[in-house]
Amino acid sequence: MGLGPGTLAQEDTQLVEFGALCAALGASSVGGPLSAAESALLPGGECAFPDTERVREHILSGADPLGDRIITARSASDRRIIGQVFTPATLVNEMVAWVLAQHPDRVVDCGCGSGRFALAAARANPQSRVLAVDLDPVSTLACRANAAVLGLHNVRVHNEDFVRLPLSPVAGLTAFIGNPPYVRHHHIPADLKAWARSKANELGWSRWSGLSGLHAIFFMAVVSKSAPGDVGCLLTSSEWLDVNYGRAMRDALLNGAGGRSVHILHPEARAFDDAMVTASIMCFQRGHEASSIRLQAARTPDDLHDIERKGRPVSRSRLEAAVSWTELLAPGKRAPEGFLVLGDYIRVSRGAVTGANDFFLLPGTSAQRLGLAKYCIPAITRAREVLGANGRIESSQASRHLLAVSRDDIDTSKPLADYINGRGLEVRDGYVCRSRTPWYSVPLKRPPIVATYMGRGRPAFALNPDRLPIVNVVHGLYPKVELDDDQLVGLVNFLNSSDCLGSSGRTYQGGLRKYEPGEMERMLVPPPDMLRDWTRLDS
Ligand SMILES: C[S@@+](CC[C@H](N)C(=O)[O-])C[C@H]1O[C@@H](n2cnc3c(N)ncnc32)[C@H](O)[C@@H]1O
Repeated sequence: MGLGPGTLAQEDTQLVEFGALCAALGASSVGGPLSAAESALLPGGECAFPDTERVREHILSGADPLGDRIITARSASDRRIIGQVFTPATLVNEMVAWVLAQHPDRVVDCGCGSGRFALAAARANPQSRVLAVDLDPVSTLACRANAAVLGLHNVRVHNEDFVRLPLSPVAGLTAFIGNPPYVRHHHIPADLKAWARSKANELGWSRWSGLSGLHAIFFMAVVSKSAPGDVGCLLTSSEWLDVNYGRAMRDALLNGAGGRSVHILHPEARAFDDAMVTASIMCFQRGHEASSIRLQAARTPDDLHDIERKGRPVSRSRLEAAVSWTELLAPGKRAPEGFLVLGDYIRVSRGAVTGANDFFLLPGTSAQRLGLAKYCIPAITRAREVLGANGRIESSQASRHLLAVSRDDIDTSKPLADYINGRGLEVRDGYVCRSRTPWYSVPLKRPPIVATYMGRGRPAFALNPDRLPIVNVVHGLYPKVELDDDQLVGLVNFLNSSDCLGSSGRTYQGGLRKYEPGEMERMLVPPPDMLRDWTRLDS
């Protein structure tokens, strides 16, 4: 597999096997006509697949082995491009229960993946018509195979772009459900952004922002496809509740989209195994005009049981006045007007993996003794160096040096050649070293700002004016826009201050908190032009 939609390669054996398995499970017998991309995945003639019976039993027991295969076979970066994360059954069941309690005539699963929402709805209510839509043919094939095994003939599957898919009118209510793809605005194609802009104008969403992610565009598509009385129940990252681009969504819920409730799942709820975000579920009914919307902070997925009764009403006037809706659940903390998420203008990435720290990271004295000082650079190799740096780390604080050599260096230095060809023989066959050319050349990552990412408290940030290279004990922050020294200082001061809100990382057993680069990118920060307000440490 390993490929995004529309770029299928028949020589990919995993993909061919997956197609054969779906065919053997009966994928082509349900869900309506196959798309060309789906057909291309299926084997030509009759097919049997050795694993078929075991997989069938697994599906009948309520598991989703096909969805799980997609997730494990695809790399995280391939899935990130299409926003692919599959939803655990606890959340699916609560959301489906709410949707079915609205008595829809038709249920639309927006970005259906392997069909978790669509099939749960079709199973629970064989009377309702279910439409499952996904751009990824591998996923829609899995959805068809699941439906075939479960004997669900009330599901229609469309391998298409949900955003621009026209929906035929129905007599009764349509319920939109799903976990729309979370894809950041940088990865959204220009034509889709243009579509969103013109749709926003059409809907009168005056505060629509070009920084909106794909989940926001899906929400807009749902609202634009819905008729008065139709309902929606969508699971998304909770970012839109607080950031600038989310204002158009919040306005819409207060007006035509008819917000009924918003439920925010704390990151500690560990709702997702492989993607840790603060998730939120919004329930709305097109045209519903209420004087309040219920807001709930759910600490565990179980807190969502019986969604209709959960949360406390927050008045329309408070919601209209609030800059951040999360703030209404945690009074006292507010993100000021105009704030962005860090990822809007900073890329966060991990430090370099050496493959053998004992070999590549040397105390200065050892480098001298071995005659390697000329080839070693002071580096940030311990998180405590950043923790103790008080916002600015310099060469003198680096406890170890990184061996940074090229092929030419080895030809000109005997001590270096001895080290590489002597002790180096013990490490060169390790996984990381052998996948690098030459194996001893550790990539130099020299960010202007560094951050710890694991600890009991919040991460510590420090300026790195000497551009010391970093290894993967810290993250590096790289501006995507030009920031001058004052702005960098302001950003570090802000991030180290208690004003900083937003993503709180994942909490592991024992209270250790870890921030993956993507989680750090979701911290709320001032826009670049406001950073100078934090230039002085005491400001
Ligand atoms: C977060 S996943 C959710 C999958 C499934 N509904 C679940 O919750 O288990 C989002 C899905 O949206 C799909 N997707 C991405 N862009 C899409 C588009 N423009 N139209 C339809 N589906 C899309 C992805 O392939 C992915 O399967």
